[in-house]
Amino acid sequence: MAFDSYSHFWDQQASTTDGAIAAVDGSANESIVQLTGQWSANLVRAALTLKGSERVLELGCGVGRIGRELAPYCGYWQGVDISHNMLKVAQARLAGQTNTGFCQLHRTSLEMLENESFDRAYSIAVFCHLDKEDLFLYLKELYRVLNPHGLIYVETWNLAHPVGWKRWELEVNHWARSDHRQRKDVARNQFCTPDEFNLYLQGAGFKTLACYTDSPWIQAIATKSALESEQESIKIVLRAKEHKIAYSPLFSTLFDRLLDVVSGLTHPKEYLAFLDAQEASEENSMYRRYLLALWSSKEDLWGATVINGV
Ligand SMILES: C[S@@+](CC[C@H](N)C(=O)[O-])C[C@H]1O[C@@H](n2cnc3c(N)ncnc32)[C@H](O)[C@@H]1O
Repeated sequence: MAFDSYSHFWDQQASTTDGAIAAVDGSANESIVQLTGQWSANLVRAALTLKGSERVLELGCGVGRIGRELAPYCGYWQGVDISHNMLKVAQARLAGQTNTGFCQLHRTSLEMLENESFDRAYSIAVFCHLDKEDLFLYLKELYRVLNPHGLIYVETWNLAHPVGWKRWELEVNHWARSDHRQRKDVARNQFCTPDEFNLYLQGAGFKTLACYTDSPWIQAIATKSALESEQESIKIVLRAKEHKIAYSPLFSTLFDRLLDVVSGLTHPKEYLAFLDAQEASEENSMYRRYLLALWSSKEDLWGATVINGV
């Protein structure tokens, strides 16, 4: 089916709750989306140096995967998204969290949000689905709605990392097999190099304070503050928290191997054997739970889920 707009595509993905969850983390499983949401929320908390009183904006909040886990650490959390259906699921998942708000976007603009009305903003797994013009317009809008000392955390696919490149080749191969009389998918995965992403940040007015590029994702933390002394003191804090923010080499390896499972190159039992051979780690435990949930949802394809030969 050809989609003519971002909202059309994402509303279709999110026409059921399972579909919405699958579209944000691939799991279609509430306990897994809470697990991956907790992981991302911990990362965002460290990257945005949250103390608990800040007004925080998430651009492209989806089902509130991150917001549900992050809102308890914010003064106020606001989720905005282009998809009405995603927002419906998010509202249900965050019901009872009274310091939260939601707003539907209708174009690449945060026009309903006032200038300088947020202390922090973040966006994960959204810029990688946007045309570059929209990515840049949203960065300019984030700049506008942030207060003069505000911080943002933003991510996109990293074309300059070998696993990022491999992920991009999947898109190229998909396009090679597609009908070339049609436009490319509006919400397809798109990629940047770190230099390109930083150019967009600078063009929007931001000063980049940290940019981690040793994974398939570019992770950037940037500020609106023009004060060099303020920038330097945040850089010191971020250096101390880098291990909580930057994706580790193991995280990238496990993602790489998961790509092979999802694209049918290896069977999940091989992935499981690889995980079992590793030392215990948070990455290992999260990917293990993710893989087992994925496998049990596709037993018609991969056969019955087998744990430790059982
Ligand atoms: C892969 S999901 C990620 C959701 C969430 N950030 C997370 O990490 O769980 C992408 C989200 O971006 C939203 N989105 C896509 N295009 C958008 C646009 N042009 N403006 C605002 N949101 C958009 C989608 O509706 C969807 O909720």
